[in-house]
Amino acid sequence: MAKFPEKLVEKMEVREAKNNLRVLPVRNDLVDFSSNDYLGFARDVGLRDRVDSFLGNNPFFKNGATGSRLLSGNHPLYQQLERFLAEHHGYEDAVVFNSGYDANIGLFSSVPQRGDVVLYDELVHASIRDGIRMGNAKAYKYGHNNLQDLEKRVDRIRHHLENSEIYVVTESVFSMDGDSPDIQELIEFCNRHSLHLIVDEAHAIGVFGKGLVPKIGGQHLVFASVITFGKALGCHGAAILGSTSLKNYLINFSNSLIYTTGLPPHTVATILMSYEHLQSPEGIKTQKRLLTNIDYFNSRIEQLKLRDMFLRSESAIQIVLMSGADHVKRCAQNLRTKGYDAKPILSPTVPEGKERLRLCLHAYNLHSEIDQLLYLLSNAKDG
Ligand SMILES: Cc1ncc(COP(=O)(O)O)c(C=O)c1O
Repeated sequence: MAKFPEKLVEKMEVREAKNNLRVLPVRNDLVDFSSNDYLGFARDVGLRDRVDSFLGNNPFFKNGATGSRLLSGNHPLYQQLERFLAEHHGYEDAVVFNSGYDANIGLFSSVPQRGDVVLYDELVHASIRDGIRMGNAKAYKYGHNNLQDLEKRVDRIRHHLENSEIYVVTESVFSMDGDSPDIQELIEFCNRHSLHLIVDEAHAIGVFGKGLVPKIGGQHLVFASVITFGKALGCHGAAILGSTSLKNYLINFSNSLIYTTGLPPHTVATILMSYEHLQSPEGIKTQKRLLTNIDYFNSRIEQLKLRDMFLRSESAIQIVLMSGADHVKRCAQNLRTKGYDAKPILSPTVPEGKERLRLCLHAYNLHSEIDQLLYLLSNAKDG
């Protein structure tokens, strides 16, 4: 075996010493308070059967895409999906990427130009920060959901760089906090100041219907929204929603779309069938069940006087802040021994000292499971 470089060994040793070494967990059959499968679509056997029968009746089935979308990989299901997404979410156009990570690096590395500025919420996802880092624009963070801080930064930039395009980036549901910005206020602010707003809706789609931007009819006022299919839709892939000009630009300049093999027809068909399921009476019932569970969770933490343990969240993501890797790992391990799966989130995913237990609520969680989880957490919080 070739020698592993010493510098890399040292980096791993530092992680180990801080007790935040990452390892790939084994899939388990514990009660699920950890996956992003909010609606249970990933485990829905009926949905899988509908994908099979859809593809069975489809003349352009191949096992793989056979190439980049710009070469041989742009099979007709892509056009069907993109037309559907634009219409369903209410945007002029849509372009599908292989994942949310690819969509964000493709968008942020190619759109903001040298001399432009990106202002991003300090808690945006790593894929957004990686994309920004790959591009040529200057970037500054602003305080989490803090419009006053954003305004201060915009004023300062406008004072020094009159002609720059300014992009503002946020998430409609934050992946590691579960909270949301005031989207209406942010859209109005960005329009008043001629800023290009980009909203990552990964954790809102399917939890809050078509997303929080469509909820307030703001589609024509944002520069782009990013949606992903690996969370509530239960499958895989992502799309950037916006204008046809943006789509054509991305097809020309976004390397994570151009230089990669497209999604296989099976994956694109699964996205189409997941949306069909989402709109069916059963899918609508499932979405209501998830919202009921979120309400139930929030009302129980009030009743049990556990409010202070949790960050405020109306979404499917509920966070218990627990400073220190040891503490949060021990708590997750205790839950696991009792049959409950919730993931510890450690530095560097979140800042050191802001470690947390991330609980994901699902349509299929029973009220009795939520009660038991809260009971175990109320006993474990000090341990
Ligand atoms: C806010 C946000 N954006 C983008 C992504 C990446 O999406 P995907 O898992 O499809 O790569 C994630 C995934 O965790 C996310 O939480």
